Amino acid sequence: MQKEEVKKLYEDYFYDTFKRFDFVAEKGDGSYITDESGKKYLDFMAGIAVNSAGHCNEKVVEAICEQAHKIMHASNYFYTEPQARAAELILKSIGFDKIQYQNSGAEANEAMIKLARKYGVEKYGPNRYKIVTALDSFHGRTLATLAATGQPGSAIQKGYEPFIPGFTYAKFNDLKSFEEACDEDTIAIMVEPVQGEGGVYPATEEFLKGLRKLCDDKGMLLLFDEVQTGWGRTGSLMAFMGYGVKPDCVSMAKAMGGGMPIGAMCTTKELIETFGPGAHGTTFGGNPVACAASYAQIKEIIDNKLPENAAKVGAYFMDKLKALPYVKEVRGRGLMIGVEFEKDIATDVKYNSADEGLLITAVRPSVIRLVPPLNITEADCDEAFGILDKVIKAL
Ligand SMILES: Cc1ncc(COP(=O)(O)O)c(C=O)c1O
Repeated sequence: MQKEEVKKLYEDYFYDTFKRFDFVAEKGDGSYITDESGKKYLDFMAGIAVNSAGHCNEKVVEAICEQAHKIMHASNYFYTEPQARAAELILKSIGFDKIQYQNSGAEANEAMIKLARKYGVEKYGPNRYKIVTALDSFHGRTLATLAATGQPGSAIQKGYEPFIPGFTYAKFNDLKSFEEACDEDTIAIMVEPVQGEGGVYPATEEFLKGLRKLCDDKGMLLLFDEVQTGWGRTGSLMAFMGYGVKPDCVSMAKAMGGGMPIGAMCTTKELIETFGPGAHGTTFGGNPVACAASYAQIKEIIDNKLPENAAKVGAYFMDKLKALPYVKEVRGRGLMIGVEFEKDIATDVKYNSADEGLLITAVRPSVIRLVPPLNITEADCDEAFGILDKVIKAL
């Protein structure tokens, strides 16, 4: 199909809540996307932090094809080998006991929120269901995860009130603000170790350690949303491992499937007992093809030491990015990088960079986010830098 034909079908049948790039993404290969005309783009958004082992990673593609020929869906009433294999690999790699598969990041967070609420009301009584989250956080777009998202009045939240009760927000990286927001009805604190959609703000070690202590002192659970930070992105397998702060429960999605839709919540064997029979479930969560892809993707990430590469190349790139025009701050961890400009130029930088063959995202009017595949090289970063520098100078 020609681009114009594809676009016409979108115009006729879609309602877009996001502006799309003006090309058809036809092929993905490693760190590149090719469009309908054969033009190649260096992909520093990686499907929004998903294609961490590269587009169409051979091992992931093989695993998907092999599993698709065996059985594509059975339902969670059956044992399937890919679910079991991925569960063992995931849990042994990150040091948790039990997993519940989901389909997406929002659902993984929903599962985590449900577990914390049920734990609180069953252990302490009907009022102990409250969760404190951070301002400028992002936890998803389902109704509970929207309520958990600390962006009051923003376009993503406006019009969906009243939210489910039980969420209050505190200032990220401000322990005192979290201490003040917690009361005797609070059962959990939930944060992203590096805020992604909120503008790429890494937590300080002191803050996360402080939250851990606060939760321990008050009998609360610490929940980490690692949907974006998980699986090597920040320079350690999971961000919590790099910070040396273990939560009671962690959610994940995005990179864990290598492009297949899958998410999960991992926790301890004691906590998971809160869910009893029938308390939670999903039709597609843990789909065998998605789990086969997840196993292959996570093996690729571990075997090729991609977290280490993310730490090394990320440090190189962050240092280099400081030389861009109008830069106010470069921040991030590993290959989760935000560049804040002195002016609101992020959207222009995003679309003009695409014209020049580089794909990035804009997370705030003045902030671009760079979340490339984790196997990129310093030469790839030099190429991306060259395009950004040219685009910004031309603004
Ligand atoms: C930290 C975080 N949590 C949750 C989500 C929601 O994930 P999904 O879009 O897969 O529902 C996202 C998505 O960007 C995210 O970055």
